[in-house]
Amino acid sequence: MTRFTDEEFARLVAHVESHYGIDLSKKRTLAECRLRLELDRLQIPSLGAFLDRVEADRTGQLATAMMNRLTTNYTFFLRERSHFDFLTREILPRLPSDAKSFQIWCAGCSTGEECYTLAMVLSAYRDGGGWLPPVEILATDLSERALHRAQAARYPAKAMEALPTAWRQAYCRADGDGHFAVREELRRMVAFRKMNLMRPYAGHSMYDLVFCRNVMIYFSEPARRRLTERLGKSLKPGGYLFTGHTELLPREQTVFTYIEPAIYQKGGGALS
Ligand SMILES: C[S@@+](CC[C@H](N)C(=O)[O-])C[C@H]1O[C@@H](n2cnc3c(N)ncnc32)[C@H](O)[C@@H]1O
Repeated sequence: MTRFTDEEFARLVAHVESHYGIDLSKKRTLAECRLRLELDRLQIPSLGAFLDRVEADRTGQLATAMMNRLTTNYTFFLRERSHFDFLTREILPRLPSDAKSFQIWCAGCSTGEECYTLAMVLSAYRDGGGWLPPVEILATDLSERALHRAQAARYPAKAMEALPTAWRQAYCRADGDGHFAVREELRRMVAFRKMNLMRPYAGHSMYDLVFCRNVMIYFSEPARRRLTERLGKSLKPGGYLFTGHTELLPREQTVFTYIEPAIYQKGGGALS
C-alpha cells in the first residue's frame, strides 16, 4: 500500500482544508486507503506527484476525482426523523396563506436520500389535505459521484425500509432487481447542482429552510464558522437551519436562535 510521507500528508491536509473546509488531519489511514485507489488507477507513484497534478490540472477533473474519494457520503432515508416531525408539526401549518413559494436548500445532499425524504414529507402533508405553496428544493454537493446517484433516484429496497409503507407505495415504484425508484412527481421537486460550500456561488437565492446536516462535522473550526455565516446569509428572516444532531453552531454566531436540538431560526421576522 502507498504510504504517504509526513510532508505529503501535511500538504494534502492543507490543500483539502483550504479548498473544501474538510479537516483530514486525524484521518491519515482513511485518506491513504481511499487515495491509494486513485493513485493506482492513474499509476502515479506518490501522493506528492498526485498533488502536483491536481494543482496543475486546469480542468478540475483530478480534484473532482480526489474529492469523490475523500468525501464521506453516508446518509439514509428519514435520518434524524425529529427534524421532519418538527417541519410537519411546527413549520408547515404556520406558513402564511399568501406565500408564493417555499424554498429549501439541502446543502451536502450526498446521494439524495435527504432531499427525497423532504419531498416525501411535503407531499404527504399536501396529500393529507395541508396547504403548501409551490415547493422548490435545491440539493447540492461537492461529490459528483454522489450527485449522479442522487439524480438516478434509484435505491435498493433495503434502503427504503426506513420509510413508512404508505410513502413507499405512494412515492416510489419497484424498478426491478430489488430496487425502488423515486416517482417522477417527487423528482421534479428537486434540482441538483454541484457546489463547494467553501466557494462563493453566484445567483444563489434566499431560502425558507436550509438543511445542512452532518456536513460541518467533517470541517475544521474556521471552515465551520465560515459555513455557518454563509448559511445565515442564505436564509430569509424567520427561516430555519437544520444541522446534524452532533453539530453545534459556533458560539459567537448571533443571527440564529436555538429552537431545539439541531434546529435554529434566523432572527428578524417570521416566514413570509
Ligand atoms: C455525511 S454526508 C451527509 C448527507 C446528508 N446531509 C445527511 O445528513 O444524511 C456529507 C456530505 O457533505 C458533502 N460535502 C463535504 N464537504 C463539502 C463541501 N465543501 N461542499 C459541498 N459539499 C460537501 C460530502 O460530499 C457528503 O456528501
